[in-house]
Amino acid sequence: MFTAQSLSGDKPQQYAQLAAQARALLHGERDRVANAANLSALVYHALPRLNWVGFYFFDGTELVVGPFQGQPACVRIPLDRGVCGAAARTRRTQRVDDVDAFPGHIACDSASRSELVVPLVADGALLGVFDIDSPVPGRFDVDDQWGLEEVARVYVESLGP
Ligand code: SME
Repeated sequence: MFTAQSLSGDKPQQYAQLAAQARALLHGERDRVANAANLSALVYHALPRLNWVGFYFFDGTELVVGPFQGQPACVRIPLDRGVCGAAARTRRTQRVDDVDAFPGHIACDSASRSELVVPLVADGALLGVFDIDSPVPGRFDVDDQWGLEEVARVYVESLGP
């Protein structure tokens, strides 16, 4: 049974611990739904000031909601819509301090004020995105971005070659 330890030290140290916990949690399992579900729960409970953590999977046309923690979410997001669509389309992390100022932002949970979305790419193929929302404006800085990009890498690697 996996038990998450609370995080300590400065932010980079905390993210190193979180990535190690993520590796331990996903170790030996390749199922993309199972691993997305457990990783959403790990991150949602490990980090403060979040209201939504989860996955959208690319079905070849658009993004479809996968496992998450938080309020019920929009099911389908076209690649030309919202922060998630921008991350998927550009394959670059989107770090948005104020979602209301982001053109085309999709308000699934009206409590969301800032958002970080990491694209999930394996061998050049788009798998989907990892989306983390906060009710606090400007919640995510560059340390959060690097830390959560590492967590996203742990997820992609868990799916195997
Ligand atoms: N706000 C996102 C949509 C997904 S939800 O926040 C869970 C967006 O603009 O892409």
